[in-house]
Amino acid sequence: MTVLVAYASALGSTREIAQHVASRMAVALGEVECRSVEEIESVFGYEAVVIGSAIHNQAWLPPASEFLTQHAPELAKRPVWAFSVGMSDGLPKLFRERGAALQQQRLEETQFQEVQLRGHTVFSGVYEASQLSAPLRGLFRLAGGRFGDLRDWAAVDAWTDQVTAELAKPASSAPSGAEPE
Ligand SMILES: Cc1cc2nc3c(=O)[nH]c(=O)nc-3n(C[C@H](O)[C@H](O)[C@H](O)COP(=O)(O)O)c2cc1C
Repeated sequence: MTVLVAYASALGSTREIAQHVASRMAVALGEVECRSVEEIESVFGYEAVVIGSAIHNQAWLPPASEFLTQHAPELAKRPVWAFSVGMSDGLPKLFRERGAALQQQRLEETQFQEVQLRGHTVFSGVYEASQLSAPLRGLFRLAGGRFGDLRDWAAVDAWTDQVTAELAKPASSAPSGAEPE
């Protein structure tokens, strides 16, 4: 099976998560390609697609949204999973759970209208103090927020294994409507 793990990343943390997902999936599934959305002309040769994007201002990066729009007809013939990378785990403890849930809901309501996903999850990425203006940085820290590498690799592995297990099932490897190559 050839699986595509596509990503859109501004500062690299989403790319590293995508590379990790692809390497882990490859152990069980064989050929898995990891590429930036901007490098991909077609998804025709792939049996399944995982797409990840960094979150900026409660939305996917424009190249990732454009990828979904541009390839929607072909994506509809394949199983597709998505992951978003933000900074929920850096939020003050009091808001963390609620903030993460609201953001996930918002993303699902606004980003994926054109493609039916098998699943979507949100991971935390790398959130550096330099990504906020000085006054907001101070406020964020005062409110109990934290910066740094917030990635939870165990959560990434668990999600990857769930997707891999679904793809390993015979029904998933022959999505309905897929055209012969
Ligand atoms: C301009 C900007 C806006 C951001 N907006 C959000 C946001 O709305 N929600 C969120 O959870 N994280 C937000 N973040 C945090 C990033 O999503 C996080 O740092 C992520 O790891 C970035 O991925 P990347 O390293 O692949 O670019 C924002 C970061 C920047 C720089």
